[in-house]
Amino acid sequence: MKTVNEITALRQQVNEWRQKGLKIAFVPTMGNLHAGHIALVEEAHKHADKVVASIFINPMQFGANEDIDSYPKTLSDDQQKLIAANTDLLFTPSADIIYPKGLAQQTYIEVPDVSEGSCGESRPGHFRGVATIVCKLFNLVQPDIACFGKKDYQQLQVIQTMVEDLSMPISIIGVETVREASGLAMSSRNGYLTEQEKAMAPALRKALLWLAKQLEQGNQDYPALSKQAAGKINLAGLNTDYIDIRHARTLVQPKPTDKELVILAAAHCGKARLIDNLQVSVN
Ligand code: PAJ
Repeated sequence: MKTVNEITALRQQVNEWRQKGLKIAFVPTMGNLHAGHIALVEEAHKHADKVVASIFINPMQFGANEDIDSYPKTLSDDQQKLIAANTDLLFTPSADIIYPKGLAQQTYIEVPDVSEGSCGESRPGHFRGVATIVCKLFNLVQPDIACFGKKDYQQLQVIQTMVEDLSMPISIIGVETVREASGLAMSSRNGYLTEQEKAMAPALRKALLWLAKQLEQGNQDYPALSKQAAGKINLAGLNTDYIDIRHARTLVQPKPTDKELVILAAAHCGKARLIDNLQVSVN
């Protein structure tokens, strides 16, 4: 696996593959890789001849009081994991290369509606930062396909919407969430959890499973259900940020006739902010 941090070197390699008619898949990450990220690389291999990964801790998607400075940086471990997963090229640009004019650059990507609730409400500007960096990385790598985790469900919908609205010739593939044996969704932020918090954290997933069962049984009192599920999460020692029942694709409030739903949730557990979700089909 080659690691490049310059745009010219990235473009040179990708162009060489393109000229040979090879299909390219892309897996963007912020590093500190775990089995969830590697599942994306494995999925990417099923759809393309070459897999490009990136590691870039994108300042534009972090709020002023968020964890950008403490975000874990483990480049050589990450490289080993990517090599073991047969990644062909790793792009590790610096912030200067990505944002030569600084974060006050003039052009942004906004994906309204789908970006607005849930994490978008708790983290103003977050999805603008995500959509802008993913668009830039797509322009740099020019992949045929790109893989994103369903763990960040709202992010996946934001990217899918951007690609459709801007006619980007890229297929977006959503990959199932990889979990710890406890049910906790794997996340780079789980490293912030103490042993005691690790034992509490699966309460988030348990509340989602409980809530999904109520929806499957025909309960449509969404506000009451969300409130009860938040109560369960808080009782376990976490602090619920939001728990929202939404239309699975548009993420708007569901109508009583909607069949495909998703429950989106976030909760604070010690220093970590955990997110998870569950898709639910109702009759
Ligand atoms: P990061 O949090 O590093 O995640 C990179 C990719 O891995 C995302 O598509 C995310 O959904 C996926 N992922 C994370 N945990 C997962 C799990 N347990 N199972 C399956 N997939 C998982 O998401 C970002 O970085 C950034 O916002 C990025 C898209 C790179 C833009 O900066």
